[in-house]
Amino acid sequence: MSNTDFPLLFVLTFLMSVHKISNTMDTIDTTQILKDGETIVSSDGTFELGFFSPKSSTNRYVGMWYKKITVMTVVWVANREVPLTNTSGVLKVIEPGLIVLQNDNNGVIIWSSNTSQPVKTPVAKLLDSGNLVVKDANDDDPENFLWESFNYPTDTIFSGMKFGWNFKTGQEVYLSSWKSDDDPSSGDFNYHFDPTGYPQHVLKKGSVVQFKSGPWNGLRYSGAPNLRYNPIYKYGVILNKNEAYFSFELLNSSIISRFTLSECGVGQRMTWINRTQEWAVYITAPTDNCDIYGLCGAFGSCNIANSPVCGCLDRFQPKDPEGWENADWSKGCGRRTPLNCQKGDVFFKYSDIKLPDTQYSRFNKSMTLNECKVACLRNCACTAYSSLDISTGGSGCLLWFGDLVNIKELDEEGQDIYIRMASSELELKDRKREVLEVSLSLSIGMVLIGLCLMLFLWKRTKRNHMLRKGGRLVDNFMNRKNDEIHNEGIQLPLFDLNTLTKATDNFSIDNKLGEGGFGPVYKGLLEEGQEIALKRLSRNSRQGLDEFKNEVICIAKLQHRNIVKLLGCCIQREENMVVYEYMSNRSLDLILFDPMQSTELDWPKRFHIIIGIARGLMYLHQDSCLRVIHRDLKASNILLDSDMSPKISDFGMARSFEGNDTGANTSRVVGTYGYMSPEYVIDGLFSVKSDVFSFGVMVLEIVTGKRNRGFSHRDHHHNLLGHAWMLYKEGRSLELVDACLSISGYWSDVLRSIHVGLLCVQQCPQDRPSMSSVVLMFGNEGALPQAKQPGFFAGRDLVTAKNSTSTNAACSINQVTITLLEAR
Ligand SMILES: *[C@@H]1O[C@H](CO)[C@@H](O)[C@H](O)[C@H]1NC(C)=O
Ligand SMILES: *[C@@H]1O[C@H](CO)[C@@H](O)[C@H](O)[C@H]1NC(C)=O
Ligand SMILES: *[C@@H]1O[C@H](CO)[C@@H](O)[C@H](O)[C@H]1NC(C)=O
Ligand SMILES: *[C@@H]1O[C@H](CO)[C@@H](O)[C@H](O)[C@H]1NC(C)=O
Ligand SMILES: *[C@@H]1O[C@H](CO)[C@@H](O)[C@H](O)[C@H]1NC(C)=O
Repeated sequence: MSNTDFPLLFVLTFLMSVHKISNTMDTIDTTQILKDGETIVSSDGTFELGFFSPKSSTNRYVGMWYKKITVMTVVWVANREVPLTNTSGVLKVIEPGLIVLQNDNNGVIIWSSNTSQPVKTPVAKLLDSGNLVVKDANDDDPENFLWESFNYPTDTIFSGMKFGWNFKTGQEVYLSSWKSDDDPSSGDFNYHFDPTGYPQHVLKKGSVVQFKSGPWNGLRYSGAPNLRYNPIYKYGVILNKNEAYFSFELLNSSIISRFTLSECGVGQRMTWINRTQEWAVYITAPTDNCDIYGLCGAFGSCNIANSPVCGCLDRFQPKDPEGWENADWSKGCGRRTPLNCQKGDVFFKYSDIKLPDTQYSRFNKSMTLNECKVACLRNCACTAYSSLDISTGGSGCLLWFGDLVNIKELDEEGQDIYIRMASSELELKDRKREVLEVSLSLSIGMVLIGLCLMLFLWKRTKRNHMLRKGGRLVDNFMNRKNDEIHNEGIQLPLFDLNTLTKATDNFSIDNKLGEGGFGPVYKGLLEEGQEIALKRLSRNSRQGLDEFKNEVICIAKLQHRNIVKLLGCCIQREENMVVYEYMSNRSLDLILFDPMQSTELDWPKRFHIIIGIARGLMYLHQDSCLRVIHRDLKASNILLDSDMSPKISDFGMARSFEGNDTGANTSRVVGTYGYMSPEYVIDGLFSVKSDVFSFGVMVLEIVTGKRNRGFSHRDHHHNLLGHAWMLYKEGRSLELVDACLSISGYWSDVLRSIHVGLLCVQQCPQDRPSMSSVVLMFGNEGALPQAKQPGFFAGRDLVTAKNSTSTNAACSINQVTITLLEAR
């Protein structure tokens, strides 16, 4: 079949002719070959196809990229799984209609398209859309294409591509991420159009669902309100018995925009900005922590503005209250009043939400909402219903069966859903608010208590530090027996309950400094005149005494001037208390985010704080005998002594790890939203690099004096990280600086801090520097690497921000009609 037997001369002649016209050609026929180094270009000059090596790799691949832009951006790869190791590859078209990649020396076929039907004069043509097709030279009907690259995308959806299912051939078009910058072979993440039940987009890691977009609602995906206002492209969903797919179309061919699945598992629409010569991220999926699939369990509801983010829907309560307190929301919520289908149920309306997962849904396009209600009521298994298509003000019917998961509260642009409820809930209506408030404050209290299974720092005047530590400890040290504790030669100063009661004036409210995650904190004065801070652990702590002691001893081995000192503890009767040095300036957040107090923090103090935190953290990660990952670094856990020197505190969620092991996996993600890295929030994967991310957030907060969470800007919808990155890319980083902060004379330190901060919050953990590199970066003047895009930089104010500036929704309303597949 293959025609490797050309006489050499013939081939050479041809090479020359290909070479001569290659830059203007968009087609290869059976008499031509494309050698490494040569390319073909689509007729309008948008796309170019040829051989390339990704980043630092020397492997050769056949791929496609934008010809018009300066940054090499590969959008499709032919032989992604089978690289060439040298430049002897050639691309050619052979009978009966295949495009093949061959090794020129031995004729071995590395990669090939396929076809089921032969044609007379096959050619391969690169279309203006970026579709590489094999077809008959004289037949331009897309129906008759033998093969097209649009059916075999790598990580990018092109304008005009059908992203989804062809039911006739059983073929699915989906994305799979590159393994890394250097390696285009299929990585961990894949992105699908899933028509099961009712269409939604699904992001998976391997086979594990990470994110679902919410169902298509005629205008957009339910969980993506920001999709609506959009001057760049229109999009839509087609659903009929032959095919089901999502597709978009650019409104102006001079716009360069693509949807790509990154190696880290983030789907993002990028648009090329000619002015800055860079790709700008337009939309990401998932957008924020609340987009994690099923984070809050069945009938749970996620609101990114709340802390913790998960709550139960109104009239529902946690199924596992104990787990719920501990931020384990997986068991979800149940109705407070059980259903009684025989006695007649009712429906309650819930508004402004991202509709739940439709995997177990059915729909009917012609029903009205009222008919929908009747249909749901008649079927005892039906849990909820809503309008199917809101593009015409609401039509059709979508029915849910079983538990409702993946609900998110949206500020605006959310949808209504009607959830089945026992009729006796109607009578409870008047008491509703009351009940809600009680249960809300109760659950907040419990979460606060539960979040920190604590572990405490402890120290005597002899400088033995200890860290508090929570949950199950990973470290072997913790499993040692009690008798060994004494052999360690560490003294455990035990305070007497009476002493502490006296020191705090019987825990008087006047002495209360605040409320930590695990109980109140008091200021106290010992008889010998020493000031102390005392944390009184809540009694709900389920930590055993031995475990508690073990932890304290373990942590006693840590000592560093940027880690808070423990003075002792008290374990008596029901009380578990921890005593540590009193920090006269309390915590960083109280000063930094207070408009009045923050003026006290001049740049040298801020820089001192940044460096101090970096050193303390480097010690935890690398230098201490126990290597510790803090997992909950944030401004409120940085205490300041009288000299404004920072000390890391609150090791309630810390984990220690063995020598080489620098990370672990947890099914229970705890920490503080706004400071948590994407891989930790999404995959439960924590490592020293998740601490580095939190550190980077803090650095940017210290420079700007603003919180990452809750940050808003009138010009865009990014959070602080996104804002900092935008300014950085435009070389305007200094505009980030707190307005009331004088930085003259310190510009280079300020710029360096911002740059390092951005390096620390990069999306891929492997790109972030280690803490020891960070300390080095602050310590010398060497050049820093370019920062890449940060993780989680889209703020929650997306909708509001867009709304206030845009009144023109019409241009984006989808023009593609939707026809409906009948319910199964
Ligand atoms: C290129 O690599 C292939 C094997 O991958 C080998 O057969 C061929 O001889 C190599 N060509 C050159 C010019 O080194
Ligand atoms: C072409 O190859 C792909 C896999 O490489 C396969 O899924 C598909 O069915 C093949 N199509 C034909 C027409 O042989
Ligand atoms: C497309 O965009 C270019 C440049 O932004 C503009 O000049 C042109 O008028 C636009 N074309 C259409 C059809 O909107
Ligand atoms: C892009 O910007 C350059 C100048 O930076 C300008 O010459 C060029 O015409 C612009 N291209 C488009 C398509 O706007
Ligand atoms: C959809 O609803 C209409 C009106 O109730 C009904 O006639 C039709 O059979 C339904 N279709 C399906 C597939 O259930």
